[in-house]
Amino acid sequence: DGYTAAQLFGQGTTYTYDDVIFLPGHINFGAHEVDLNTYVTRKLKLATPVVSSPMDTVTEADMAITMAMMGGMGFLHYNMTTEGQVAQAKRVKQHVPGFVTSPAALAPQSTIADFEALKAKRDVRGACITEDGQPGSKLLGIVTSRDTDFINDRHTPLSDVMTRDVETAPESASLEHVLEQLKKSKRNLLPIVDSQGHLVRLATKAGFLEEQRAPRRAACSADGGGRLLVGAAVGTRDDDRARVDALRAADALDAVILDSSQGDSTYQLEMLAHVKRAHPDLQVVCGNVVTGRQARSLIDGGADALRVGMGSGSICTTQEVCAVGRGQAAAVYQVSRVADQCGVPTIADGGIQNSGHIAKALSLGASTVMCGSLFAGTTEAPGEYFMVDGVRVKAYRGMGSLEAMAKGSEARYHSDTQSLKVAQGVAGTVRDKGSIRTTVPFLAQAVRQGFQDMGVRSIADAHRALKQGSMRLEARSSAAQAEGNIHDMHSFRKVRW
Ligand code: XMP
Repeated sequence: DGYTAAQLFGQGTTYTYDDVIFLPGHINFGAHEVDLNTYVTRKLKLATPVVSSPMDTVTEADMAITMAMMGGMGFLHYNMTTEGQVAQAKRVKQHVPGFVTSPAALAPQSTIADFEALKAKRDVRGACITEDGQPGSKLLGIVTSRDTDFINDRHTPLSDVMTRDVETAPESASLEHVLEQLKKSKRNLLPIVDSQGHLVRLATKAGFLEEQRAPRRAACSADGGGRLLVGAAVGTRDDDRARVDALRAADALDAVILDSSQGDSTYQLEMLAHVKRAHPDLQVVCGNVVTGRQARSLIDGGADALRVGMGSGSICTTQEVCAVGRGQAAAVYQVSRVADQCGVPTIADGGIQNSGHIAKALSLGASTVMCGSLFAGTTEAPGEYFMVDGVRVKAYRGMGSLEAMAKGSEARYHSDTQSLKVAQGVAGTVRDKGSIRTTVPFLAQAVRQGFQDMGVRSIADAHRALKQGSMRLEARSSAAQAEGNIHDMHSFRKVRW
């Protein structure tokens, strides 16, 4: 029944995820027994095979922290200064689970209207009032809705309504101690301050409850010292070498992505050789690639992982503009086949819209998937929510869009800054998707169920079955695809993911 991957992908047609479907295997184990442990690079292990894309509307510190807490990993974008990127990476490495490391803060002269705007943008219930309105400066009080709800004048300064007599905990207090204090105080917020009274971080009731649930979620992705794993993208220009040096000097980088839409270039090979010489123990992710030949070239150069995909992303126009790329299912299979022979994990990057796409990418040889659009619009994504046509949205844009390139990302597309800029991506919005704390465990559980249906117990097991030919699949006609989607309903409510 069905075809092996080698047969299906050897026929001259390029396929993407929706074009292919796996045939069921035999089930003799529970979905909860499926093991999703994997490697994102040769040496970095993850409990959840999902990472977030280095895009300026997807991954900054909040996303990277939460991704690592959920067992995945975040890769910081580099449409910012070296100092900015180092600060973001340090926030991830210094994160203490259970605490908010960058609390919402306002100045005493800010108004109730400012507080309400902050609540809407950041989804917070309260704000710390500090001398200059930034976390890190002297704590003066706290404001929550209880202080503002009954006041009609929205121009009232927060200094008039804030609670000044705030219970705090010292920086040296352990998580257990802080949580005990929070419980006793019966409050929602407990600021942590240094010896001079500067706001360092915040303990919240929500964080406390989350920690209690922690044993049920995947293990955090952490380094040997227990600090969260973080990756960052850089380009391949001379100043990008200094970026890597700065991130490493701050001891805040576990893996670096050499970011390019077409990774098989002299520039990337030279950068790879340089980084390996300067930082031999740093894991280097190369790409993007879509062919076995491109993969071999970067593996020979020393790549520790390969990022796979060209033009498959939801915001990409590369295939249309440049006539180059590959269907994502074919790209993942062909690159992973070569990479697997050398023990190099692949990251299926772009085009992931649902849990089925993740299960397909992993079964076609990828060790992890990288998501942009799936995580854009979440609480952890950079940027603020706003309303469009009655829908709450956040911005999402391709790094090859004119808007993103204006901030520095044109190097990814080998763009010559002197001449005309050709966009290879679009900018727009995506709807509010809530927190990845809900999304990621849901996706992982759905993938476990998919693996159970295929009759494979782990990612390694799926890769073995694919290689041996016991994993069978077929191409789906467009009518079969329509049949596989919801049809003939008058109305229905679809729970996404
Ligand atoms: P998804 O489908 O998850 O894809 O939104 C995210 C991936 O798309 C790539 N990317 C781009 N590709 N033009 C492109 O051709 C762009 O402007 C662009 N921006 C991002 C990137 O690999 C990302 O991880």
